[in-house]
Amino acid sequence: AAALKVAIFGFGTVGSSVARILCDLKPAGLELTHIVNRNVARKRVDWLTCPIVWSENPEEVLSSGIDIVVELAGGLDPAGQWVRTALEAGKSVVTANKKLIAAQGVELEQLARSRNCQLFYGAAVAGGIPVIPGLQQGLAGDSCHRIEGILNGTCNFILSKMESGAEFADALAEAQLLGYAEADPTEDVGGFDARAKLAILARIALAAEIELTGIPAGSIVPISAIDFAYAHELNCTIRQISRAQLGYDAAGKLEVKATVGPMLVPQASPFAWSRGTENMVIVTGKYGGDTVFSGHGAGGHPTAVAVVSDLLAVARGSKTPGIVSHRAGVSGDLLLRHYIR
Ligand code: HSE
Repeated sequence: AAALKVAIFGFGTVGSSVARILCDLKPAGLELTHIVNRNVARKRVDWLTCPIVWSENPEEVLSSGIDIVVELAGGLDPAGQWVRTALEAGKSVVTANKKLIAAQGVELEQLARSRNCQLFYGAAVAGGIPVIPGLQQGLAGDSCHRIEGILNGTCNFILSKMESGAEFADALAEAQLLGYAEADPTEDVGGFDARAKLAILARIALAAEIELTGIPAGSIVPISAIDFAYAHELNCTIRQISRAQLGYDAAGKLEVKATVGPMLVPQASPFAWSRGTENMVIVTGKYGGDTVFSGHGAGGHPTAVAVVSDLLAVARGSKTPGIVSHRAGVSGDLLLRHYIR
């Protein structure tokens, strides 16, 4: 069969790493044909080993003969419109867009299924760590009730640098320079990026659909050296933690509690060991107990690995996995939404 034609929308840190990996590995069944970006002149590179059409016109590329859209522009608009247009036309989509998937993932997956094409978003959470495929496949056989983790590489980079004496502003500037931070770093330090990722994980792991703005997002901006000194006195350190868990309220009704923010974690906890852009996710299931995922949660190459892995899944013809359906039955009466701070 002819190779599937791949178009990358958004040629930033992750987009260029995806192109680099596709050029290096030349995976069978996939052919990079288009790169779409604003101001192509500023982005053009000379190391691509295959003929590429560079374009500043997303609509034109969407209506061309491409098979797969790799959406790496981020944000709800216009990226969401491109994703919708592609799926409606039966083109598969691979995206790292956590905002879009958190807000409209269920609907977009339905659209993909109805058009017989695929939607994968493994890179939307925890960069290169296969948490999403791990939940959708490896842990599909469990009944999970808690998911918690370090979901923002920039915050972890800043907090672990501050722990060794760095100033907040310097650590943030370095994270931006290294391409870890979002275009607006308030997304990272304010907890909003982690909150979107938590909502996606809660949907897949717990079958809990949580309204994004209902999850409290605590900022790490107020954290200073003195907080680390006090934390150390308690044999703890400080990490930005995201947590969602199922439980029962006083009336016996199933509920989900979710929160994001800087928290004290014991020095003996695996969360305290994570440094730099490491992300770590611990999933707790009824049968399998705790499963820990860790690795690079931000940065071009690690995130691109997740994107390319999704492209390979599309090339293999894997179905859009979505939420694990038996879990929807487990928490089907999840009516009450309650949040902890
Ligand atoms: N800004 C994000 C982070 C990038 O720091 O984790 C990966 O989603």
